[in-house]
Amino acid sequence: MLALLRLLQDGRFHSGEALGAALGVSRSAVWKRLQVLQAEFSLPLHSVRGRGYRLVTPLRLLDADWLNAQVGAPQWRAHVMPNVDSTNAEALRLLPSAPSLPFYVLAERQTSGRGRRGRSWISPFGENLYYSLVVRVEGGVRQLEGMSLVVGLALLQVIHAFGVTAAGLKWPNDVLVGDRKLAGVLLELSGDPADVCHVVIGIGLNVNMLEAEPGVIGQPWTSMRAELGPLLNRNELVSELNQQLSRYLDIQLRGGFAALQAEWQACHLWQGRNVALTAGNEPVEGRVLGVDSSGAIRLCVEGGERVFSGGELSLRLRDDS
Ligand code: BTN
Repeated sequence: MLALLRLLQDGRFHSGEALGAALGVSRSAVWKRLQVLQAEFSLPLHSVRGRGYRLVTPLRLLDADWLNAQVGAPQWRAHVMPNVDSTNAEALRLLPSAPSLPFYVLAERQTSGRGRRGRSWISPFGENLYYSLVVRVEGGVRQLEGMSLVVGLALLQVIHAFGVTAAGLKWPNDVLVGDRKLAGVLLELSGDPADVCHVVIGIGLNVNMLEAEPGVIGQPWTSMRAELGPLLNRNELVSELNQQLSRYLDIQLRGGFAALQAEWQACHLWQGRNVALTAGNEPVEGRVLGVDSSGAIRLCVEGGERVFSGGELSLRLRDDS
């Protein structure tokens, strides 16, 4: 199926005969595969008698060979799947038999993409980035401290480098443009966090998505293409993401989150804003002072400073912010 999509991804017309010849199958076999493409992956096709078939929306598919051949990039092996439940889940399944670390999993589509706090992550075919990097952590809790914020910071560099310069961070690790979400990070652990463990760094970045069924994404969202206009090449984004993650995780390994605290804070869109922090049932209201050297959020609450950390916490702006 991917071979057929590769031929069609340019959005131009291709005759059934030419597609059949390229794939070594009959025209009727091509026609059957085209039906599956439309039904299974929700990819609309335009067919015109005498000209053939074309994708209504052109695609740029992920390319494992291109990614694995990048010179000067971290030598992390790419596993590219057309379709998976969740790249984080797949990364955890691959971990026991992985020949080398780090490695990463990419998918064209996720059917059960996982978000933070039990939410799902909408993952249509061929449009966005669904990326999970597996790294080994030997430094115990200290190395894990602030790691999700560091990942957000690395991701933000990529987004800025591709031109979405208005994007910024929202604690702990969302990337926003204004009040619209562009990307999110979900870290999952395997092993003993106090000793040697593996971390799956899951990143969802809205790249080329321009539409979503109303109501399925439960918050305002945007994509890089919605901000910039042209279709983006996701392979180039992945290559840059690998380089930035390697650079920032290395800084954190050597100096802890403290080495990136000031840089992170300078990118925080909600610095100084009035927020409500959801921690358990009772929201805590306060003004954002910044983050501490472990990546915990510092709030001014009723005149005093309080510090909060934990994966289940989330912030929202107060009306008077
Ligand atoms: C969030 O809720 O903000 C975090 C979203 C993380 C989504 C990514 S997509 C790739 C990886 N695989 C998953 O199932 N989730 C993460």
